[in-house]
Amino acid sequence: MKETKINVSVYIATSLDGFIARPDGDVSWLHEVEPIEGGDDAGFGEFFGSVDVLVMGRGTFEKVLEFDWPYGAMPVIVLSRSLTEVPKKLRDRVRIEAPTPQVLLEKLSQEGFKRLYLDGGKVIQSFLREGLVDDMTLTTIPVLIGEGLPLFGRIDKDIKLRLLECRSWNNGFVQSKYQVLN
Ligand SMILES: NC(=O)c1ccc[n+]([C@@H]2O[C@H](COP(=O)([O-])OP(=O)(O)OC[C@H]3O[C@@H](n4cnc5c(N)ncnc54)[C@H](OP(=O)(O)O)[C@@H]3O)[C@@H](O)[C@H]2O)c1
Repeated sequence: MKETKINVSVYIATSLDGFIARPDGDVSWLHEVEPIEGGDDAGFGEFFGSVDVLVMGRGTFEKVLEFDWPYGAMPVIVLSRSLTEVPKKLRDRVRIEAPTPQVLLEKLSQEGFKRLYLDGGKVIQSFLREGLVDDMTLTTIPVLIGEGLPLFGRIDKDIKLRLLECRSWNNGFVQSKYQVLN
């Protein structure tokens, strides 16, 4: 159960069959679908503007490093027990940590952060298992990829959700925002 005031939000895209990446981490299928008309970003810019810290797993960090850094000056915490070094050009905004999710939230709360963006399948699963996620915005991409890294996984008990908003676009994206009823 969450004891800190920091709000934890997930904003993530999945294939219709529930994967966030292919088994080898490839996400090119996300960019091969027809974009929304008019450059609409499915609310990502607004969401990103509403958070003050980003926490991601090592798997997501390693994939993001293959591209131009997309998060500007946003403070980013990478959860990893195996990584030790952040690339030099990112050291002013990225740090590696390995506390439990609860301890991490307490620490970030004490540092003054209020709204956290949580990213990475395994990391999201571990925070969900501990009842530490407040809301999730899930964008379903109209494609089946058959196998891959799942967004959701094993849980010890059912997690109930309240649908807050649901919208869709002509290109087939369907976005649902849920409050997690921890
Ligand atoms: N579709 C999308 O919108 C979307 C969004 C995000 C990511 N992705 C893709 O998803 C893939 C990565 O996802 P993923 O599920 O494999 O990995 P992930 O959650 O990004 O990273 C998992 C790793 O984080 C570390 N970790 C530290 N603390 C943890 C904790 N409490 N719980 C879980 N992991 C913890 C572990 O690394 P150590 O072994 O170093 O400790 C673990 O192996 C990438 O290919 C990425 O591009 C897609």
